[in-house]
Amino acid sequence: MAVFLSFTFISAVSLFCFSVSFAFESSISSSQPIRDNRTLVSETGTFKLGFFSPGNSRNRYLGIWYNKVSVQTVVWVANRCNPIKDSSGLLRINNTTGSLELLYPNKSVIWSTGPSKQAQNPILQLLDSGNLVLKDEENYLWQSFDYPSDTLLPGMKLGQDLKKGLKRNLSAWKNFDDPCPGDLSYGFELESNALPEIYILKGPKKYYRSAPWNGLRFSGVSEMKSNPVYDFYYVNNIDEVYFSYEIKMKPVVSRIVLNQTTSARQRIAWMSDQSRWKVFSSAPEDECDKYSLCGANGNCTMISNKPVCRCLEGFKPKSQEKWQIMNWSEGCVRNSTPNCKNGNENEFVRYGSVKLPETTNSWVDKSMNLKECKAKCLRNCSCMAYSNLNITGKGSGCIIWFGDLFDIRQLSPDEQVIYIRNPASKISKGLNFLQKFILNMLNNCHKVSFHLVFLYLLSAI
Ligand SMILES: *[C@@H]1O[C@H](CO)[C@@H](O)[C@H](O)[C@H]1NC(C)=O
Ligand SMILES: *[C@@H]1O[C@H](CO)[C@@H](O)[C@H](O)[C@H]1NC(C)=O
Ligand SMILES: *[C@@H]1O[C@H](CO)[C@@H](O)[C@H](O)[C@H]1NC(C)=O
Repeated sequence: MAVFLSFTFISAVSLFCFSVSFAFESSISSSQPIRDNRTLVSETGTFKLGFFSPGNSRNRYLGIWYNKVSVQTVVWVANRCNPIKDSSGLLRINNTTGSLELLYPNKSVIWSTGPSKQAQNPILQLLDSGNLVLKDEENYLWQSFDYPSDTLLPGMKLGQDLKKGLKRNLSAWKNFDDPCPGDLSYGFELESNALPEIYILKGPKKYYRSAPWNGLRFSGVSEMKSNPVYDFYYVNNIDEVYFSYEIKMKPVVSRIVLNQTTSARQRIAWMSDQSRWKVFSSAPEDECDKYSLCGANGNCTMISNKPVCRCLEGFKPKSQEKWQIMNWSEGCVRNSTPNCKNGNENEFVRYGSVKLPETTNSWVDKSMNLKECKAKCLRNCSCMAYSNLNITGKGSGCIIWFGDLFDIRQLSPDEQVIYIRNPASKISKGLNFLQKFILNMLNNCHKVSFHLVFLYLLSAI
């Protein structure tokens, strides 16, 4: 992250040379179809639309790529799973249906945007943002930004338009030769009663979670701390939920891509002096970032670049044997059955610098302060934890969690704080000297085997 923010980054991404713009075609009307040997170029020449063959494949696809980046880098593909086998493809506007169609010469449609409202003389235009739009005089009838492939460009929205029923996710290419979606996808999952969170899914399985937006960034994404290069946007209202970003330093050419090979969401920038793309950050960032590595009520810490799970205070491994061989997936259970009827004010343990737990079973109020939030949690025995919803300034709003807590990890120092209930505890206040000493050693301990011995000793005290 430090690298990401540093001036090295800024100076390394040297200026992108703008040649004098020529009279490229950036748009066509319905009487000017695009054949395989023809391209559209956006107004100042940033992006190009045309037919291409990926990797070692000879199949032809209609796509958009950077026009001034010397390594062909495709950011959007129309016919991802329906390749054209030769150079006879043709893209045209169908005036009758108000749609865009990709045809074989025998006139069968292999890809189409689907019919739109009746349009007066629609035109197709490739914008400088990389957005391909079909429009009439007033409106966009269709735009490629609504149907992302594996790439999120600046200005694109990742998320859902609840009114139009659009779900804009990224899906990785199957491999270098095949833009058809593999099993990796990236986008918001809106579970009932939950705050929107971004997930990477492998097939139907959760693989990575961003954690909810905390007013400044997604709680688990440390690379999003304020920086001189990017602005980040998050919108969550009844019409739409989305994340997007803009580049503040215009010459920087950067994109977000979902990569099947590395199973990661990568932020990449073009290093023009080296003629290559450089990865500046990835999600998951490390092993602890993998979804629920430590199971229920576990907390993941990286020690010597290896993940180590601990149970939250007041919890113990569900299976001691599995835990000791570092199979953490079963997580942790309470040391003893809680008796929370007393409403004891001191029964919360403060955890600083953590990725907030998954919000599937949570409740949110935007206007409550932290004190009211605590009181709300205290009144309900199934409430497990509370935190500010928004950490901007002094903090505001309230999230409370019910039931087991999933996918918590320790982050580098950070202002995110959560209070987790431990009704049985006096331990939070009263760790004895020896326990503190051992915990301290644990934190400095570099060998995992040592670590296990200490954990064992600790449990015996
Ligand atoms: C058009 O050509 C393609 C490829 O040659 C073929 O798969 C498809 O069946 C043809 N469609 C029609 C309607 O003939
Ligand atoms: C995925 O990552 C690998 C390794 O960093 C890289 O070689 C490849 O080009 C990436 N693919 C995409 C689609 O960015
Ligand atoms: C506690 O919270 C749970 C989950 O939201 C709810 O079902 C239950 O009614 C609440 N109990 C009280 C006493 O508020």
